[in-house]
Amino acid sequence: MKILITGGAGFIGSNFVRYWIKHYPKDEIVVLDKLTYAGNLENLADVKDRISFVKGDICDEAAADKAMAKADMVVHFAAESHNDRAIMDPDVFVRTNVFGTHVLLKAALRRKVKRFHHISTDEVFGDLPLNSKIKWNEASPYNPRSPYAASKAGSDHLVRAFYHTYGLPVTITNCTNNFGPFMFPEKFLPLAITNLLEGKKIPIYGNGRQVRDWLYVDDHCSAIDLVLHKGKIGDTYLVGSEHREYANLEVAKILAKIMGEGEDCIEFVKDRPGHDQKYSINAQKIQTELGWKPKHEFKEWLEITVDWYKNNKSWWQRVKSGEYQKYYTLQYKNR
Ligand code: NAD
Ligand code: TYD
Repeated sequence: MKILITGGAGFIGSNFVRYWIKHYPKDEIVVLDKLTYAGNLENLADVKDRISFVKGDICDEAAADKAMAKADMVVHFAAESHNDRAIMDPDVFVRTNVFGTHVLLKAALRRKVKRFHHISTDEVFGDLPLNSKIKWNEASPYNPRSPYAASKAGSDHLVRAFYHTYGLPVTITNCTNNFGPFMFPEKFLPLAITNLLEGKKIPIYGNGRQVRDWLYVDDHCSAIDLVLHKGKIGDTYLVGSEHREYANLEVAKILAKIMGEGEDCIEFVKDRPGHDQKYSINAQKIQTELGWKPKHEFKEWLEITVDWYKNNKSWWQRVKSGEYQKYYTLQYKNR
């Protein structure tokens, strides 16, 4: 079987490539990635002989079409993925996440792929009050509140439109916040870990009471695998951990403890505009219909992730040089 993985040089995509090679060693894997600031061939260095890598933009019809030739399945990770960058410059989010997905969908129709699986986020559902007991499910209404979430919501709608209108065999997963190796150090957890390793502080936006549901990246990969093999065409599955949800400040304190720091390594900085307070999902559908279960406990795998960043300093030091410095100064100045 031939599988096309878009965005396979990014955080989750590269972990998924490694997962797929481990579980389906006979499959042919093509990775299509533009190698934006977030894409990095070093993320695939250990598997480079097992894949065909195509450097290309998903918004480019010819590149999308060529990469999809003879593909049985497409797993679509490629996206602009960081909320803070979307607040600074939303245009590229609309281009890549909405238009790029549209270009891929058209190519998938032309190439008659047997499955187009779209990777999305729980952020499309919006924001819950901190004291809310609500958990979103597959029937929850879309209510995105940030440019990133809105662009992902737009892409989800297009994917469903191609199913209903043209019969393209699609599935969608909307997952909560991931963590693990190769996560770009602009996102909260890897930024906090690498800052502490550099002797800097953990920046907490606002009061740090915002709640996220953290899922280890391999659990996300196993959920996608199950949906690809057993999921119902046209259906959406929400994916999230069964662990309890943590406030950002609590996560920072847990991390400080793991890394042998006192709580004075935490600093409060200016809040993110329109900061979503809480995300919370109910993953019953994928658990009961497909038998998925997350296997990685949050604190244990956070420790393992910290070790990964300790042991891969040259990876994140290179990532944190160059363009990243400009972003960091812009994002955290005057905060
Ligand atoms: P990432 O930013 O680490 O990687 C994105 C990858 O897409 C990079 O390799 C980048 O080069 C590539 N890319 C960007 N624009 C492209 C374009 N125009 N053409 C081709 N390639 C392009 O992102 P991630 O955190 O790995 O997220 C992957 C997917 O999972 C995204 O769709 C994201 O919305 C979704 N998601 C992420 C999380 C999370 O916690 N990180 C949670 C739920 C869903
Ligand atoms: P992030 O990793 O950007 O993911 P998302 O916005 O998709 O949830 O942020 C996770 C949480 O951490 C979010 O509530 C914002 C917060 N945060 C900080 O407090 N400080 C930071 O420096 C960053 C990047 C995020």
